[in-house]
Amino acid sequence: MVIIIVFRFEQSFKVCLCQICGYKRLKAEIEIIRTTKYDSQNEEHEEKLQQLWTLLMPDVKLEKRISKQWTEIGFQGDNPMTDFRGMGMLGLNQLLYFASIYTEKSRNLLSHSKHPKYGYSYAIVSINMTSLLYEILSNGALRTHFYNIKTEKPSLQDFHEVYCYLFLEFDKFWFDEKPKDIMEFGRVRKKFKQEILHRLMSESTTVLKMDISKES
Ligand SMILES: *[C@@H]1O[C@H](CO)[C@@H](O)[C@H](O)[C@H]1NC(C)=O
Repeated sequence: MVIIIVFRFEQSFKVCLCQICGYKRLKAEIEIIRTTKYDSQNEEHEEKLQQLWTLLMPDVKLEKRISKQWTEIGFQGDNPMTDFRGMGMLGLNQLLYFASIYTEKSRNLLSHSKHPKYGYSYAIVSINMTSLLYEILSNGALRTHFYNIKTEKPSLQDFHEVYCYLFLEFDKFWFDEKPKDIMEFGRVRKKFKQEILHRLMSESTTVLKMDISKES
């Protein structure tokens, strides 16, 4: 009996240690991607940007690389490169992850973001949700989620899944808040972050996971 208990303790102790170093490792991995600046000389980067366009706008051809068309998917100007700023390639990778894994969902969200009254810039808000996710990863709040989803170390994909969840949840939150205009973004973002932190802290069993049954 005693032996079994000791064995179990050792097992869960190992799982626990693995999760702690797993979280650290994930943070380090994310940091490398985030600090990688978008580089228009880099073919891989350029390819990803083109892919993003094709996935979100399957029926519209991008006429040229530098184009006002980028604003149709919510970038600010004619060159998305300038919008990644502090999030670097992490911002682009997450936009692309969502569009490639949940293509229908991302297209629906893009059209939702063009709502006449409560519309927002899809890509800009996406990059901002990447930054919100990065904040809660950095301050350790995301540990609850990763410790609850599984026993092994969290992967990059697990991290991207949380971003998809956050982006979709933010969209709902934004519409529920009925903001007067985009100037309210800062206020709504702050309230949303508090809500997410609250979810992570109030329940030890919290996981930030999309409701797949609502797959569209
Ligand atoms: C996200 O939005 C907040 C509020 O407007 C702003 O302060 C912050 O700089 C933005 N971050 C990024 C990376 O866009």
